[in-house]
Amino acid sequence: MTNETPAGDGAEEILAVNDITVTYRRPGRSLLTAVDGVSLSLRRSEVLGLVGESGCGKSTTARAVCGLEPLTSGSVLFNGEPVSPLSMKRRPKHLLGIQMVFQNPYASLNPRRRIGSQIEDGLGLNRQRDAWNVNELLEKVGLHPSDRDKYPHQFSGGQRQRIAIARAIGTGPDLLIGDEPIASLDASLQQRVAALMRDLAIQAGSGLLFISHDLAIVRTIADRVAVMNRGIIEEEGPVDTVWRHPTSAYARRLLAAIPVADGLGKLPGLPTRRQN
Ligand SMILES: Nc1ncnc2c1ncn2[C@@H]1O[C@H](COP(=O)(O)OP(=O)(O)OP(=O)(O)O)[C@@H](O)[C@H]1O
Ligand SMILES: [Mg+2]
Repeated sequence: MTNETPAGDGAEEILAVNDITVTYRRPGRSLLTAVDGVSLSLRRSEVLGLVGESGCGKSTTARAVCGLEPLTSGSVLFNGEPVSPLSMKRRPKHLLGIQMVFQNPYASLNPRRRIGSQIEDGLGLNRQRDAWNVNELLEKVGLHPSDRDKYPHQFSGGQRQRIAIARAIGTGPDLLIGDEPIASLDASLQQRVAALMRDLAIQAGSGLLFISHDLAIVRTIADRVAVMNRGIIEEEGPVDTVWRHPTSAYARRLLAAIPVADGLGKLPGLPTRRQN
């Protein structure tokens, strides 16, 4: 895979986040501006990595994109239509096209139902025709069709996360958001699950907003990356450009802190502590 040319270049824009601000009230303290004038865009079959330290506002941004967080100012357009918490309550059909995969796959799977029927529920939710069937989806994520009759607790954490991904992809989303989807997985699985999300999203023609602390993995799956710090986007651009020539001091510091050799051999041009 090469990241030189963004995969979604020239494709239809599915997400436009325009200068959004999200503030939280804190009892007895001043307002907290968790997201402060963030703008992002995403096209079909494009992967945008959103990285930054804990508490910088990544999840708040993701929730705002889904309409789960009221905006203090700015706007979010999904397929050209505004997303707002008000419209989310009425769940207009077009918002079914946004699916999220969370850190803990239990957040999206019902422990009391067989996984086959849970995946089936979502099939074709957003599209008129069923693009996938359950068996196909299970195989896509490395499981066996006979696994459809099992319950979530009968799988490992990594398998559960792959089931959550299969379920999200099966709905035919235009936008897939992974909020730390690999953080709870064993290190040996993280790269594979991240690559799987990328491959399935691209195959389905979805845009993928991939939020992660793991910059080395983001480097291998994203076309573009946005570096967030204290509620603002410090820097945004093609992954290779940001990695090789970070312009903000913050991005330089963040990238310099990545361990160099991860054994994958896929991180050319990565700045090292020694070089910086
Ligand atoms: N519901 C809330 N009420 C008040 N403050 C909140 C709320 N949710 C988040 N915050 C605060 O907003 C800031 C951004 O939080 P957010 O969860 O978006 O960060 P994050 O980048 O996702 O962090 P992490 O990498 O740890 O998941 C933090 O200071 C957090 O404490
Ligand atoms: Mg978060």
